[in-house]
Amino acid sequence: MRRSAMLLVSLALGLCVQTASAKVTESDFGKTKAGVEVKKFELTNKNGMKVRLSSRGAALIGVDVPDRDGKVADVVFGFDDVAGYESDANDYFGCTTGRYANRIAKAKFTLDGKEYKLAANNGVNHLHGGKTESLDKVVWTGVPFEKDGVSGVKFSYTSPDGQEGYPGKQDMTVTFTLNDKNELKIDYSAKSDKPTVINLTNHAYFNLGGAGSPTINDHVLKLNADNYTPVDDTLITTGEKAPVEGTPLDFRTPTAIGKRVDELTKTSALGYDHNFVINRGDAGEGELVEAAKLVDPKSGRTLTVITDQPGIQFYGGNFLKGNKGKGGKTYGHRSACCLETQVFPDSPNKQGLEGWTDCVLRPGDEYKHSCIYAFGVEK
Ligand code: BGC
Repeated sequence: MRRSAMLLVSLALGLCVQTASAKVTESDFGKTKAGVEVKKFELTNKNGMKVRLSSRGAALIGVDVPDRDGKVADVVFGFDDVAGYESDANDYFGCTTGRYANRIAKAKFTLDGKEYKLAANNGVNHLHGGKTESLDKVVWTGVPFEKDGVSGVKFSYTSPDGQEGYPGKQDMTVTFTLNDKNELKIDYSAKSDKPTVINLTNHAYFNLGGAGSPTINDHVLKLNADNYTPVDDTLITTGEKAPVEGTPLDFRTPTAIGKRVDELTKTSALGYDHNFVINRGDAGEGELVEAAKLVDPKSGRTLTVITDQPGIQFYGGNFLKGNKGKGGKTYGHRSACCLETQVFPDSPNKQGLEGWTDCVLRPGDEYKHSCIYAFGVEK
């Protein structure tokens, strides 16, 4: 076949596989204070579920899903414009978090005998990748795609060697894909030209009654975890694993978040802010396991979190201060929760500790992480 004819045939085939249901649009979201253009993407599936993403922070900024009566609500926190995301009211809403999500003790770690100092942006500790150039604050390049009945955006960003104190030039991609089963899949990958540490996650705040509903305490949570990783009073993991049995952290049977939360109010976490050790059974590396299921009994909306990671941080929004977000809605204390899939917190300072997680990425290796947020309804 002549090349031009082949091109026509493959174009025609391409149009055929592109179902009408999977759609992605791209628009201008505005500019950062520094004048960098930010793009907004909207994915739609055949059920009409919509997911919005921003190139600043490769962030999940909207998820419209129906309740049991078909009434649609946006269930994640965010802002109407880039300025909102750049303001102090933004508590990592929906962002890709890193280069190391969660805390690193005393804002330092040693790798191959060399000490690296990071920003102490959470008391004496380091949190979520640093102060000014953490992954939530930089603008990624987003490329939209539609194929085989799904739509998505592949974001990429290269973090230079030494950015926020982390060693190695790190090339990263984060791909969001929406299918017709109302599943939003997030695939992370990264490579580094020097040994480094890595822990990427997504920091979406969910309230399945609709973001801006007053509380998350009425949601029912199930966590597939027999153990959690206890913390000291600066929220740094002690290196132990402890059973959830007999504690307010036992969510192996679905339980309302508010039922026992007050037992934790006097702890430094002020409520739920714990990393759970996902029961992975015989699942091998890269195999997906159900880690959590969140149900809003009022609306019937459900969210199941499925991942190949060893840990999940369940953060119950204790530090939210009632700032205003999208459409002027108030995001108050404990009005949403994050379910962040990841390695165990402070792994850079626990290298070699038995039973702990590995977070070291070496040249030639590839970091991979997948997480599915699957939305549904219960009658
Ligand atoms: C942490 C909280 C922290 C919050 C900041 C969560 O991932 O577990 O301790 O306050 O992020 O948004």
